[in-house]
Amino acid sequence: MADENSVPPTTTDAGIRVQSEEHSLTVGRDGPILLHDHYLLEQMANFNRERIPERQPHAKGSGAFGHFEVTNDVSKYTKAKVFQPGARTDMIARFSTVAGEKGSPDTWRDPRGFALKFYTEDGNFDMVGNNTPVFFIRDPLKFQHFIRSQKRRQDNGLRDHDMQWDFWTLSPESAHQVTWLMGDRGIPKSWRHMNGYSSHTYMLTNASGDKFWVKFHFKTDQGIDCFTQEEADRMAGADSDYHRRDLFNAIQKGDHPSWTLYWQIMPYEDAKTYRINPFDLTKVWPHEDYPLIEVGRMTLDRNPTDFHTEIEQAAFEPNNMVPGIGLSPDKMLLARGFAYADAHRARMGVNYKQIPVNKPQCPVHSYSKDGAMRTENSTDPVYAPNSYGGPAAQPYPGEAGLWHADGEMVREAYTLRADDDDWSQPGKLIRNVMDDAARDRLVTNIVGHLSAGVSEKVLRRAFEYWRNIDDQTGRRVEAGVREKLGGESDQPGLASAQSVREAEPAE
Ligand code: NDP
Ligand code: HEM
Repeated sequence: MADENSVPPTTTDAGIRVQSEEHSLTVGRDGPILLHDHYLLEQMANFNRERIPERQPHAKGSGAFGHFEVTNDVSKYTKAKVFQPGARTDMIARFSTVAGEKGSPDTWRDPRGFALKFYTEDGNFDMVGNNTPVFFIRDPLKFQHFIRSQKRRQDNGLRDHDMQWDFWTLSPESAHQVTWLMGDRGIPKSWRHMNGYSSHTYMLTNASGDKFWVKFHFKTDQGIDCFTQEEADRMAGADSDYHRRDLFNAIQKGDHPSWTLYWQIMPYEDAKTYRINPFDLTKVWPHEDYPLIEVGRMTLDRNPTDFHTEIEQAAFEPNNMVPGIGLSPDKMLLARGFAYADAHRARMGVNYKQIPVNKPQCPVHSYSKDGAMRTENSTDPVYAPNSYGGPAAQPYPGEAGLWHADGEMVREAYTLRADDDDWSQPGKLIRNVMDDAARDRLVTNIVGHLSAGVSEKVLRRAFEYWRNIDDQTGRRVEAGVREKLGGESDQPGLASAQSVREAEPAE
């Protein structure tokens, strides 16, 4: 902030000094306003255009800048410069909820986005993950439907548990993520106290061209901490921006949060025969099969100074891969390779990569040109190949993200492997990882969620869903819901809500 005695003069956006902050130009003191009051018009017009569309999913969030330091020698797995011994790379992280809108409470039960952009000397590398190692679905065709089922109904604009459980119970592949979500980690106490995962499998290539499959795990150095449902509900009313405030305040007072990055590495050939499809996003790789290998540490130490330009306009995209890191045959990941850049073009325009927060910190020599809001000059020649010294592709060996693919074109699910069922891993989470107290909270959370507006037919499917995951949990959930509702559910659900409306007399 400038000293009160040395404040600069207000100007229009064209840099022209303005005459008043308080009085519009009028015909006489009591007369009408004049249309050529340029500053007044500019202020009104600018105000009307302040908002850009919010992100479709992950609208509510915040983030901070920092750096990533490599602490181990993992060069035998990748040649990516960002992961070479001793490398230190600037970065930004944005954390978010998924289903809520821009003003929604931070403490709603939901997965949390964990989006990272590393400004590497080979271009931007983005890892757009979540605080969960798995996801609700494994085919991108279902993503849009999934998100719609978690957002709001068309008729009354309300979020609706019936719609959520209807989708989940008709999509058994959601069982692992839903178990995760209903457990303690479904509401982190703060973004500083949660882990981040790539969830997807990616490919790494080293300097000799050897290929590896990899999963990223960013483990919080602050320790895991979670809110109970009751604490979260209370906080949603007391401070709906609690997570945003917590991160900002911690960094402001010098308490810089950090996460240690570990990799699970699977040799390229293992993927063909591993008992679980390693590209199925609804599954983890058990640690006993693929242990965690330390890689480095990410620290956030700088708050944004302009929330709009640095956080709202931040554009993360899973297709930003640098030499040494590439995509994998995970169908969800491949579809995300299109979805994000398209969302950014719709939300911010085709030149969003020229906004400083998205701009690579290395030279850019692309043939993209023109378009709305372009700020950087393009130069001739505007085509390739050319004989006038324009940039020319310089292939490098060992591109990551290339694998053997052959076969007929089909519309079918992944081929099932020996341990590819939807229930075992969530069952293991309940039986082997949670303790009695965590299991009790899990059941209480599910019972509370299912007792709020879920129709009888969806409830019955939900009880079966939980029995499939873990028989005892399923029985406890059913007993708990029946007790709470005092018998069968009389919630209308979507179909009967429509028929009630249809039965209403016409006006
Ligand atoms: P491990 O015992 O080696 O690992 C258990 C994992 O569960 C740890 O990563 C632990 O995270 C995490 N965890 C602890 N409490 C919870 C909770 N309430 N909700 C979610 N995760 C929790 O077993 P496996 O590797 O064989 O995996 C067993 C199950 O653990 C999986 O089916 C999966 O549901 C879950 N899990 C597995 C992960 C993996 O990549 N293998 C990652 C995260 C969860 P932490 O170390 O941070 O406490
Ligand atoms: C945001 C699409 C799956 C994590 C978004 C956005 C879109 C989208 C369109 C908004 C982008 C924007 O406007 O800036 C999809 C599609 C998916 C998918 C089509 C599946 C096919 C996933 C998965 C994860 C994930 C599996 C995590 C592993 C995120 C995160 C954000 C986000 C963290 C917020 C990024 C930010 O902070 O700006 N997604 N998504 N998404 N998605 Fe996905």
